[in-house]
Amino acid sequence: MEEVFEAYREDLEEIEAHIRRNLDSEAPLINEIAAHILSGGGKRIRPLLLSLCARLNGYVPKADLVLGSLIEFIHTATLLHDDVLDEADLRRGQQTARRIWGNHASILVGDYLYARAMQEIAAFQNHDVNDVMAIACRKMAEGEILQLCANRQTLLKETDYLRIVEYKTGALVASACKVGAIISGTSPMHQDRLYQFGLYLGIAFQLADDQLDYTANGESLGKTLGQDLMQGMITLPLLHLLQACSYEERQELTRNIESKTIEENDLLHITTMMEQYGSLQYTTTRSLEYIDAARLILDSFEDSPAKRALAVVADYMVNRDR
Ligand code: IPE
Ligand code: IPE
Ligand code: MG
Ligand code: MG
Repeated sequence: MEEVFEAYREDLEEIEAHIRRNLDSEAPLINEIAAHILSGGGKRIRPLLLSLCARLNGYVPKADLVLGSLIEFIHTATLLHDDVLDEADLRRGQQTARRIWGNHASILVGDYLYARAMQEIAAFQNHDVNDVMAIACRKMAEGEILQLCANRQTLLKETDYLRIVEYKTGALVASACKVGAIISGTSPMHQDRLYQFGLYLGIAFQLADDQLDYTANGESLGKTLGQDLMQGMITLPLLHLLQACSYEERQELTRNIESKTIEENDLLHITTMMEQYGSLQYTTTRSLEYIDAARLILDSFEDSPAKRALAVVADYMVNRDR
């Protein structure tokens, strides 16, 4: 992946410049909080996908970089909100905004970033772009609400989990790819293909994220390990374990999850069980299936440097440590 980041370094730097340029609110607190989270070193995977999908179709002008920076604003807004919901202490290797400035400020600045991004996107006066971004924002909110309702629901089904993942994460990644396709002027059929491509990548990405929550090195991840389990979030590794373990073990796990008192020892115990029952391997297999499906879509495009870079990014979505 380093070679892709290097090949598109200038573009990524320009995206950073656009991000900084928009931190110009009259309310200093907005600029301070937004700068804090935006300078934390996110992977910028969504803007990169947007640009690559545009260039896949021979796109040359640079509006892709502005739109990419705006999608990163929307992503950042969801992270500010998500850290409030998940009561998270660490994000991108530093203290979360909610730890420093509190929940109220985090929510409001998240709202501002959403609104600001949508305002700037609307200025492009491209109805198709507005449409896809509005749908993405609606789906992300729905996804987080569905997730809230699924909290500590140990009987959660895999299809319901996958819908949450599709909405909260897949929709924005898919939209980044489709916006790239739209501005490159490609046909609606190709736009839809790239939406689907991004959707598969986004779902695989979240599955990998849910696995990393159990298995990552905390320092590279830049987030607290075991956060999902502590918060009672039934993600795929846990969902698989709940179905694969013995009746007695399920009773014990359910009691644990429902009691809201999961501690570090429980995390170790549960991760060991996940290894024993193949729950982590199952999550890997499922995420790779989505990457394979995404690659199949990519195959229908002509060879180009952007296509080769997209294939590398597709692998990176699930093979990463942060
Ligand atoms: C984190 O997204 C939220 C998920 C959808 C898993 P990223 O992993 O893209 O976060 P940053 O932007 O690189 O920090
Ligand atoms: C992704 O879910 C959240 C969004 C799509 C905003 P997570 O809760 O797993 O994300 P992290 O792990 O906090 O980054
Ligand atoms: Mg979270
Ligand atoms: Mg996570």
